[in-house]
Amino acid sequence: DKEEDLRPRPPVVTVMGHVDHGKTSLLDAIRHSRVVETEAGGITQHIGAYTVDINDKKIVFLDTPGHEAFTAMRARGAQVTDIAVLVVAADDGVMPQTIEAINHAKAANVPIIVAINKIDKSGVNPDRVKQELTEYGLIPEDWGGDTICVPVSAKTKQGIDTLLEMILLVAEMQELKANPNRPAKGTIIEAKLDKGRGPVATVIVQKGTLKVGDSIIAGTAYGKVRALIDDKGKKVKSAGPSMPVEILGLSEVPNAGDILYVVSDEKTARQISEIRKEKEKQKYFASSSKITLQDLYSQIKEGKVKELNIIVKADVQGSVEALKQALEKLSNDEVRVRVIHGGVGAITETDVTLASASNAIIIGFNVRPNSMAMQLAEREKVEIKTYRIIYEAIDDIQAAMKGMLE
Ligand code: GTP
Ligand code: NA
Ligand code: MG
Repeated sequence: DKEEDLRPRPPVVTVMGHVDHGKTSLLDAIRHSRVVETEAGGITQHIGAYTVDINDKKIVFLDTPGHEAFTAMRARGAQVTDIAVLVVAADDGVMPQTIEAINHAKAANVPIIVAINKIDKSGVNPDRVKQELTEYGLIPEDWGGDTICVPVSAKTKQGIDTLLEMILLVAEMQELKANPNRPAKGTIIEAKLDKGRGPVATVIVQKGTLKVGDSIIAGTAYGKVRALIDDKGKKVKSAGPSMPVEILGLSEVPNAGDILYVVSDEKTARQISEIRKEKEKQKYFASSSKITLQDLYSQIKEGKVKELNIIVKADVQGSVEALKQALEKLSNDEVRVRVIHGGVGAITETDVTLASASNAIIIGFNVRPNSMAMQLAEREKVEIKTYRIIYEAIDDIQAAMKGMLE
């Protein structure tokens, strides 16, 4: 994007911290003191993202329900967050998830504003929290450092205006800008399957403007935007930079952290989805654990394997039969040896596909895999063993079953 196309955009602020330190309460307090309640019946659609108007300025807040959700988000799309508000309960102090949140924010290079919450409680001392924070490299401004710490209470709303002012101050220094006049790019922050509406995803638009009717792709989910719903539950026609919106019209539920793009048409979106699905499938095959003779014994002991499936290929039918009988006789109380397929000729892709699907190993006697089968076996982690002496094949399987394979 060219400099002259950029326009100021609101900051996206993620609220983080240890469990029950008051993240959601703080957001509620901010929203109820700032948001004019317009929705029918007072029902707020919880999408985990809220826009708050302060005079003529907007702030977009993201609540983080649990640190795990945030970890996933950070790993796949931390770029949505401009500022982190770290909530620390004054009566509890710095706790494990507080430290984790500090590390997340630091790793994502996001400035931290500390909200020392629950100061309405009797006997609490915000200085104790500040002292603890210094141990993690956050030195309060009033102690000569550069970390803004604001004592607040979600209960009495004390300090909330100061917190909002500080957020706007930090945001101003960041000079946040984006080009609203281009096809949208955004990040999925939440997604679910709704009984009536189908896949519903909450996206934060980062660049451009997302419009009803746009063709979109997010991960492997694709479609045409059927409706956009803002954080107040109202239908809108478009959403610009930093705006959180719910999207209807996706083919499936995307993952939090997936990047959403607008593409030229729905057919293109579908094609991208198909390519990505194929890639995912290949990755799955490559990573799914397949049986090998080397770890057969430990898998038997762990109770993971009750059946050793084998595919036998040999140069002549007599050898196939001999191997089948001898191998199946190795069955004992712990594991049943089963030759699920036997045949004459080279080891082919069909054999590998069958082995992959049934978690089998392939034994070749006086035959070898062709090159396509070899490549496929490597990709799908199917073990192929070839022998020139029948008894060596039998000895190997027997040894593997006892954990004595050389
Ligand atoms: P998780 O989302 O579960 O991690 O918790 P959270 O950080 O969102 O905390 P939540 O807002 O659910 O608040 C936890 C408890 O603390 C609730 O019982 C709140 O009523 C209480 N609480 C939150 N803020 C304050 C406060 O400023 N003062 C007092 N006295 N209680 C508070
Ligand atoms: Na809670
Ligand atoms: Mg919460």
